[in-house]
Amino acid sequence: QRSYLLAPSILSADFARLGDEVQKVSAAGADWIHFDVMDNHYVPNLTVGPLVCQAIRPYTERPIDVHLMVKPVDALIPEFAKAGADIISFHPEASEHIDRTLSLIRDCGCQAGLVFNPATPLVWLEHVLDKVDLVLLMSVNPGFGGQKFIPSTLPKLRQARALLDRYEAETGRHIWLEVDGGVKVDNIAAVAEAGADVFVAGSAVFGAANAHDPNRYDSVIAQF
Ligand code: DX5
Ligand code: ZN
Repeated sequence: QRSYLLAPSILSADFARLGDEVQKVSAAGADWIHFDVMDNHYVPNLTVGPLVCQAIRPYTERPIDVHLMVKPVDALIPEFAKAGADIISFHPEASEHIDRTLSLIRDCGCQAGLVFNPATPLVWLEHVLDKVDLVLLMSVNPGFGGQKFIPSTLPKLRQARALLDRYEAETGRHIWLEVDGGVKVDNIAAVAEAGADVFVAGSAVFGAANAHDPNRYDSVIAQF
């Protein structure tokens, strides 16, 4: 029996009242808070950094799942660890030394994740699985919320699931398999069936709720 986690992405939240958004979505049952960091260099968009992570930290007890879409990566890792991040993931194309970056994340006391763009092959994992706590498969090209799920992610998820199951059978260690981009209530069952156990959902969570309803995320999250 697999356990499943929902990680709402604050990229689609109301940034003017982020603390409240994070608190509400946590109370409504979010398992992790997904925190998208974009630098207008590795990806064509610009979002938020460690200061904002630190600012929302008091508003949730859930793990903060930092998704770094930045290049270079390493200098930001200690900063996010200090700002209260629990999990830090990065794209292998954005790091000169993947093994070193993974070690740095764990040395800072966080769990480490490796992120795969739709066209990036899973072979990057081969020699570093022991240093990885989370594999994140992008089901859109990174940079924006509200994009459409890319269907070739489903066979790729199956491939990753087989690899991680084999690893778990050998080592007894579970590595999370997270999917990010275009996940909605109407495709989440297929995504779960393909092997994901952590689901990022941005626009499907924050875009769906009525901002004036004080319990606005309860019914949205209950649908997942
Ligand atoms: C995209 C981000 C995603 C994004 C997902 O680059 O990494 O986390 O917020 O948003 P939706 O769920 O709207 O596709
Ligand atoms: Zn993300």
